[in-house]
Amino acid sequence: MKPVLISGIQPTGKLHIGNYLGSLQNFVELQNSGKYECYFFIADLHSLTENFDPKEKPDQIMDVALDYLAAGLDPKKSVIFQQSEIPAHSELQMLLSNITPFGELRRMTQFKDKSESQPENANVGLFNYPVLMAADILLYDAKFVPVGEDQLQHLELTRTLARKFNLKFGKIFLEPQPILTEAKRIMSLDDPTKKMSKSRPAGCLFLDDDEKTIKEKIKRAVTDSGHEIKYNPEDKPAISNLIIIYSNFSGITIKQTEKKFENKGYGDFKKDISEEIIKNLSSFQIRKKKLIKNKTAVKKIIISGNKRAGLAATKKIEDIKIKLGLTID
Ligand code: AQP
Repeated sequence: MKPVLISGIQPTGKLHIGNYLGSLQNFVELQNSGKYECYFFIADLHSLTENFDPKEKPDQIMDVALDYLAAGLDPKKSVIFQQSEIPAHSELQMLLSNITPFGELRRMTQFKDKSESQPENANVGLFNYPVLMAADILLYDAKFVPVGEDQLQHLELTRTLARKFNLKFGKIFLEPQPILTEAKRIMSLDDPTKKMSKSRPAGCLFLDDDEKTIKEKIKRAVTDSGHEIKYNPEDKPAISNLIIIYSNFSGITIKQTEKKFENKGYGDFKKDISEEIIKNLSSFQIRKKKLIKNKTAVKKIIISGNKRAGLAATKKIEDIKIKLGLTID
């Protein structure tokens, strides 16, 4: 049997090139490697920890489904599903929260950052987010989790909880390992000290942006003083970010990118970045437009994925409850 691999993206807004280079592109490669039994989900429960408008949520969920399929996730090769449709995720979160030390959750960087940036909505769901993430992973016996660097701390907690549960109640969980992508962190185009994030649209280049918008956004992207195209994240964070973006979209290394633009200025570099992005996103955008015309078929794919994920999750949660002594004869 192939090892299970799982990951998800939150429907909190339009996906950007950070989501693409940091996760989606990698999801597709991992799926197509044929080495894993893949589960990819729309993390809609996680998305409720942010401020949201319920009227927008169905479109946001559909949009992630469309992006998954347009990027190349294939329901014949992967289980593609909607998290909230599988009650076992919430149930396992509840069960795991009993072995989760309060102090560990309080130390989580994402919780600290997000509760500071949205103090009016520093909710318990946000605090408990890593436990839900642990449930997402442990429920499917996932051995591998493709994540961005920012999620490593949560994955470490998942491993701790798996170990702790196994020791206390008998072995039932696998300890998952991360699969880190090369494009670890794409920074905002308007501020290279901040991660490109859906919740900061001003610094995002979205997968749906048209040619004109891509050119404008790259043209406007902040640069550093000087004129050299040199990778140096400390002294030249903005140009280094653009080099990472170029290198990822063009498929050449950072060194090769530096060489290619050795005697060129920021203007030429930016022109080529736009061209590479447009070229790379064009097939994605064509596929997405076709899928938008057939949302009923997309919905059917998700319903069928929900059934498959539900079967695996229900069986696992029953076994977990037996370990916890919750089942009477
Ligand atoms: N800037 C980024 N660079 C590289 N990878 C990134 N990811 C997100 N931003 C970047 C990776 O995308 C995956 C899915 O992310 P998510 O939507 O579930 O949550 P997120 O990391 O919180 O993404 P955003 O865009 O920053 O959304 P908001 O603003 O809603 O919080 C993850 O694997 C993540 O590492």
